Amino acid sequence: MSKLETTARQLVAPKKGILAADESTGTIGKRFASVNVDSTAESRCAYRDGLFLADGLSEFVSGVILYDETLRQTSSTGQPIPEMLAARGILPGIKVDTGAKELAGCPGEKITEGLDGLRDRLVEYAGLGARFAKWRAVITIGDGIPSETCIDVNAHALARYAALCVENGLVPIVEPEVLMDGAHPIETCYAATHRAQTAVFAALVKQRVPLEQILLKPNMVLSGSDCPKPADVHEVAVQTLRCLKNTVPAAVPGIVFLSGGQSDELATAHLNEMNKLGDCPWEISFSYGRALQAPALKAWAGQADQMVDAQAALFKRARLNGLARSGDYSDSLEAA
Ligand code: 13P
Repeated sequence: MSKLETTARQLVAPKKGILAADESTGTIGKRFASVNVDSTAESRCAYRDGLFLADGLSEFVSGVILYDETLRQTSSTGQPIPEMLAARGILPGIKVDTGAKELAGCPGEKITEGLDGLRDRLVEYAGLGARFAKWRAVITIGDGIPSETCIDVNAHALARYAALCVENGLVPIVEPEVLMDGAHPIETCYAATHRAQTAVFAALVKQRVPLEQILLKPNMVLSGSDCPKPADVHEVAVQTLRCLKNTVPAAVPGIVFLSGGQSDELATAHLNEMNKLGDCPWEISFSYGRALQAPALKAWAGQADQMVDAQAALFKRARLNGLARSGDYSDSLEAA
């Protein structure tokens, strides 16, 4: 097995998933503001390093996606953060896109930037210890959108990114995110997700990306967040797996979902239901940001002496999602 396929399979090992802690400075600033914490390089490092040092985390977390700043920061252990993670059995990863910007000619739609200079940055990131990378494309549902233009240019950019990652020894996590904003029914999300994933795999194949060496990070197929009659957990699991089976080649080692603004408990319940349905050619796992961190951020709220509670809150969500990897979660475990 190639080195990258081995790494990709390690990231989706049984019971384990990925912690996304790669919020840009702007996004982490908003998250900190929600708990009245000033966002500085020091507070961001204290929070993230504290979470990563949670006891036993590597039992359920295979890798952490870092932001550029964090990859260069020093842990309270005295080690560089990527080295500290690796020493604890957690693979360090890095977000390498530079954000989603307005797509010219397509009002209300976005294109993710960051290809210029990417090869040189990947070489540097690998030297700093990163083993995998992430690039997020954003697809918006609305009146007459997503356009074919938006889907195609984002798929093209994701494939350019993935090919460069493989060339430079990093596993690319390919993330086409169809946002859940809107009042649309689940069928609308299915159609947009099907189009986005079809275009992504066509671009990956065209650009000669070995599919054994990547992970897909998709949205789940959900009703819009303002849909008056949202689909239930079982329907979400059925439609999400149906969409994946129609679009994702079996060579891909794993699917690592984003949470996308779902509540942490619902994100776990959906993952659990999919693994209960089973019968998939790929591992079905998680790469959650908010759905792993939300209770931890609240528990910490900027207070160093509350970091132990934050660590416990993160560990709990990681453990429950770890159980959901085998369909062994139930909501009665939330109270325990
Ligand atoms: P959420 O799980 O909060 O959507 O974040 C995952 C992620 O990494 C988005 O790019």
